[in-house]
Amino acid sequence: TRARIVVDRDFTLGEVPRRIFGSFVEHMGRCVYTGVFEPGHPAADEEGFRTDVLDLTREMGVSVVRYPGGNFVSGYRWEDGVGPVADRPRRLDGAWHTVETNAFGLHEFMRWAGKAGVEPMEAVNLGTRGVEAARELVEYANHPGGTALSDRRIANGAKDPFGIKLWCLGNEMDGPWQIGHKTADEYGRLAQEAAKAMRYVDRDLELVVCGSSGSLMPTFGAWEQTVLGHAYDEVDYVSMHAYYEESDGDHASFLASAVDMDHFIESVVATIDAVGAARKSRKRINISFDEWNVWYQKREGEDSPSQVGTSGWVEHPRLIEDVYTVTDAVVVGTFLNSLLRHGDRVTIANQAQLVNIIAPILTEPGGPAWRQSIFWPFARTSALARGEILRLHVESDLAPTQRYGDAPLVDVSGTYDAESGRVALFLANRSLEGPADVEVDLRGLRVGELIGAEVLTIPEGGDRHSVSTAADQRVGLRGLENVTVEGERRDVVRLRLPALSWSAVQLG
Ligand code: AHR
Repeated sequence: TRARIVVDRDFTLGEVPRRIFGSFVEHMGRCVYTGVFEPGHPAADEEGFRTDVLDLTREMGVSVVRYPGGNFVSGYRWEDGVGPVADRPRRLDGAWHTVETNAFGLHEFMRWAGKAGVEPMEAVNLGTRGVEAARELVEYANHPGGTALSDRRIANGAKDPFGIKLWCLGNEMDGPWQIGHKTADEYGRLAQEAAKAMRYVDRDLELVVCGSSGSLMPTFGAWEQTVLGHAYDEVDYVSMHAYYEESDGDHASFLASAVDMDHFIESVVATIDAVGAARKSRKRINISFDEWNVWYQKREGEDSPSQVGTSGWVEHPRLIEDVYTVTDAVVVGTFLNSLLRHGDRVTIANQAQLVNIIAPILTEPGGPAWRQSIFWPFARTSALARGEILRLHVESDLAPTQRYGDAPLVDVSGTYDAESGRVALFLANRSLEGPADVEVDLRGLRVGELIGAEVLTIPEGGDRHSVSTAADQRVGLRGLENVTVEGERRDVVRLRLPALSWSAVQLG
């Protein structure tokens, strides 16, 4: 396989939006309980937060965390999660057929977010609840004091307002599985009124309206159009959700999933802008891609989220704890490339989810926490993508796929940081057959040296299905060999990417 990439420092897309390195913590399965929160665990701090998970969250470079759902939020009463823990009610969570103890709620989340160094992104319930509960939650969280709700927050131990800026107006309201599912008109009006009322309490909010829960939803496109027809002036972002998996042995299409992600993003951008144009509006609405990942739904017999976890009513059951392979990690790397390539419009993104639920971090109750294969592309892209996103010119050999036609075998994104003079390139070789020889023309951008080159690929003695476990972190990063900086002006870089690999290369 061959590819040629042209980098010109003057061709950029704008600053890397740090919020695209977001994650998601839902009250689902073991994400909260025995994931981020496990009082009594040997690594738990005085508040019951697992410090091993906190350390890994920081190492991953997570910038923002969406909370508390997900489908869970559509039946949630936020008041249940505040006040003395002993007084908090046990409730049935219909979304995941789980008993919710409410031992973890808004205050715990805010303290955890502070320790993790992440920005909170709070979702309100627009399934079973509406304008009043949403505006009351904003008042409770963000108003300094002197009103019943803000004083209640203070009495519950938080003197200073939480100052939560980012809010999701419900979750996947287009999905028939959603508690309180609505038509686009019903939801559009509700989101508009909730947004207004929330802003009347705090003018500085940034609001995300629900787009479709996937591009295959029958209402995709029309949903966005109708919802924005109502709420265009009140919201700042439209949400996108996408999950991919390998099915029917079609690895070529799975490896090319980011081609579909690119197309999905561009379709939503076009839809948003068409609504704006028809309204003669100059306002620009961006995208919050607030759920994305690999999720083996079919393998687990889950055709829809409503089929997850329907056995007895228990606390924090093991739900969708997917174990990720080398192949999955390469695909996740290409999703991050897709987000970066669209970083002028996708300015928030959250991998779903952070721990245990289709997550880069797994834990055992009372036991260890460890990194899955997909941890690495996220952690390294978050660490190295600095400065401006490069508008790259990429010519790659193509390979046919059943679902997406001919797809490039080499997938790339890159950034240039003028301050440090560093270029970072993130490259995937989707081919299972052999290495890819890549030539990078840096167009006079004299970088001089190779600062670092790492690769994630099939481990010694393994195959494309190899996974990392608590005991054996065999799928990880190692040095990428065969990188040379050439040319009189030292502006040509040649790389050989192993078959099925994801690499991060830094030049400076
Ligand atoms: O992330 C798991 C679930 O997937 C979320 O709760 C929901 O929003 C989506 O369907």
